Amino acid sequence: MKILVINGPNLQLLGRRKAEFYGTMTLPEIESRLRATACELGVELDFMQSNHEGVLVDRIAAAIGNVDGIVINPAAYTHTSIAIRDALEAARIPAIEVHLSNVAARDDFRHVSMTAASCVGQITGLGADGYEWALRALVRRLSTAPEQSNL
Ligand code: DQA
Repeated sequence: MKILVINGPNLQLLGRRKAEFYGTMTLPEIESRLRATACELGVELDFMQSNHEGVLVDRIAAAIGNVDGIVINPAAYTHTSIAIRDALEAARIPAIEVHLSNVAARDDFRHVSMTAASCVGQITGLGADGYEWALRALVRRLSTAPEQSNL
């Protein structure tokens, strides 16, 4: 089983970016923790981060036929990107949306997710651990109910 972990704009700055919202862990540290979880679960992981909407859209399309599930933090594009929403919907690859911060407790514009409707679920506000819970949830879903996983 192969899972693609996608991170959107400015998440390469984790560790030095608003620690009160995003914690102190860097993206490479989060990825290395996820690698350990993937090893425990016996799944393969691929990572990508981009600050560019079109690059994220292209990567989602390229995942078709190559990836079983997606963990995605679209970052600011969560609140604006119909293109990423459409890419996830068209790919029909089960995806879980992750936010480190509790977006519901922040600015009003962060309360709306354009992308969540194309995902099977969402994990918000649990910090870096959210990526791990998303990976575990996705693998369990794909292993136990693959027929319910596609949108
Ligand atoms: C974020 C929340 C977004 O509102 C914000 O633009 C981000 C990070 C999060 O992980 O909490 O860049 O997706």
